Amino acid sequence: MTIVTNKAELQAKLNIHRESGLTIGFVPTMGALHDGHMALVRMANRQCDVVLVSIFVNPTQFNNPHDLSNYPRQIDADIALLSGNASEVIVFLPEVEEMYPPNEQVIQYDLNGFDLVMEGEKRPGHFQGVAAVVDRFFKMVGPCKAYFGEKDFQQLTIIRHIAQLYHSEISIVGVTTRREADGLAMSSRNMLLTPEQRNDAPVIYESLLRFVRNVHAGASVRDCKNAFIETVEQRRTMSVGYIELADETDLSLVNHPIDTGRLFTAVYAGNVRLIDNVAL
Ligand code: PAJ
Repeated sequence: MTIVTNKAELQAKLNIHRESGLTIGFVPTMGALHDGHMALVRMANRQCDVVLVSIFVNPTQFNNPHDLSNYPRQIDADIALLSGNASEVIVFLPEVEEMYPPNEQVIQYDLNGFDLVMEGEKRPGHFQGVAAVVDRFFKMVGPCKAYFGEKDFQQLTIIRHIAQLYHSEISIVGVTTRREADGLAMSSRNMLLTPEQRNDAPVIYESLLRFVRNVHAGASVRDCKNAFIETVEQRRTMSVGYIELADETDLSLVNHPIDTGRLFTAVYAGNVRLIDNVAL
């Protein structure tokens, strides 16, 4: 395993590998790694010769300063987890100034309106921040396969769009959501839950699956949404931010079942925001 902290060093390492004809698999993360991240690393490992993992808590995508300061950071444990990986792994740990040089202009990205619903609507500026950091990473890394989780499906859609517009040298690979045994989607934020919140949190996935079953059995989307909110909020620690049905091809919201439908939710456990989604 090699650890690099600056762009020049990173590019020198990647160029050596590319000159020997090796392919690069890139997994961007914000650290506090869990098996969901490792599913991306394993997939990259299977499909590419060299795996690059970045760990960078990107300040521009946090619309809430408390969320940023509270975000879990455990770099030593992350490195230990990655070093258990058999093949060649490069870990990129940039400082904020490396990603955002003070003299560099901040641009607004065309996100095709994908940022106007759900997470984008509730977290203004969040996806501009994601786009800014991912665009910068893609410019630094160059040709590769880049891996992103369906856990953040809206993010994945926006990144595919950015890659299509600005980075034809990069192919985006989506990876299915890894879950705990009780169904809770793995997330770095899960470690912020109290034991009681953690105990209640599986209701999110259970209720998404119930929604899917009931809609297929003929219930209306409106009734299913109400039932979702009611069941989740029966757990004292949980409060629903939104529950939406959208077309997964363009994220437009729909109020009737369609083949390309996907359910999206954000649920608050206290201050901790948990998101999940399932195909209809
Ligand atoms: P982070 O939340 O650390 O997630 C890094 C990657 O892991 C994302 O592509 C995310 O979708 C994926 N991931 C997280 N939990 C997962 C799970 N349970 N199953 C499968 N994949 C999962 O997403 C970000 O960081 C940032 O926004 C980033 C893209 C790095 C830009 O800063």
